Amino acid sequence: MLYLMQANYKDIVKEYAFTDKMPYDENGFIYEWHGTKREDFEDVIGKMIDARSGIGLPKGYVPETFYFLWRGENIVGMFRFRHYLCQSLENGAGHIGYYIGQEYRGKGYAAKGLRLLLEETKESLVEDEYYIRAHKNNIASQKTVLKNGGYIHHSDDSNVYLRIKKVH
Ligand SMILES: CC(C)(COP(=O)(O)OP(=O)(O)OC[C@H]1O[C@@H](n2cnc3c(N)ncnc32)[C@H](O)[C@@H]1OP(=O)(O)O)[C@@H](O)C(=O)NCCC(=O)NCCS
Repeated sequence: MLYLMQANYKDIVKEYAFTDKMPYDENGFIYEWHGTKREDFEDVIGKMIDARSGIGLPKGYVPETFYFLWRGENIVGMFRFRHYLCQSLENGAGHIGYYIGQEYRGKGYAAKGLRLLLEETKESLVEDEYYIRAHKNNIASQKTVLKNGGYIHHSDDSNVYLRIKKVH
């Protein structure tokens, strides 16, 4: 069974094991705490939890919730949800980012995880649509959005800007 769980201290051992394998940047999905040592990871979880309430964020950043995607007892992915758009997000990374662990790819987890995220966040989304950006060559990410009722709004030389209308 697949489910989303917000970042928390209780699952820190598995959260660390998963995030320890994440690169800093893959296709524009940024994991800014790449390379964190285990003894410093409590702080990282604290930052993820605080980000939900907008605490401790760099100037201009909006609140963000960090979720792990679990399949049974294992973490298979991470989803980031930014609660509303500011100008840079509107023209850039949008509301949602997702990352599926290397060994779990190609099994439909991104598409299913995104469906869960849309359900989880629909009441709190301020805008009428979710904004999501994917690199032009990141077909898997674009398909993930299209499979969830999304559409391509526009593109530029390097990126495709997709949107998903909120289902009320
Ligand atoms: C993009 C990413 C999230 C996709 O995760 P995934 O769990 O492998 O995706 P899914 O299995 O749900 O597949 C979604 C669709 O993409 C297709 N797909 C998967 N990998 C693909 C690939 N390498 N090339 C082309 N299509 C691919 C799948 O076939 C599926 O489409 P289909 O149902 O028509 O067959 C994953 O590759 C990843 O984490 N990449 C690094 C981070 C990233 O790119 N994040 C997105 C940018 S924010």
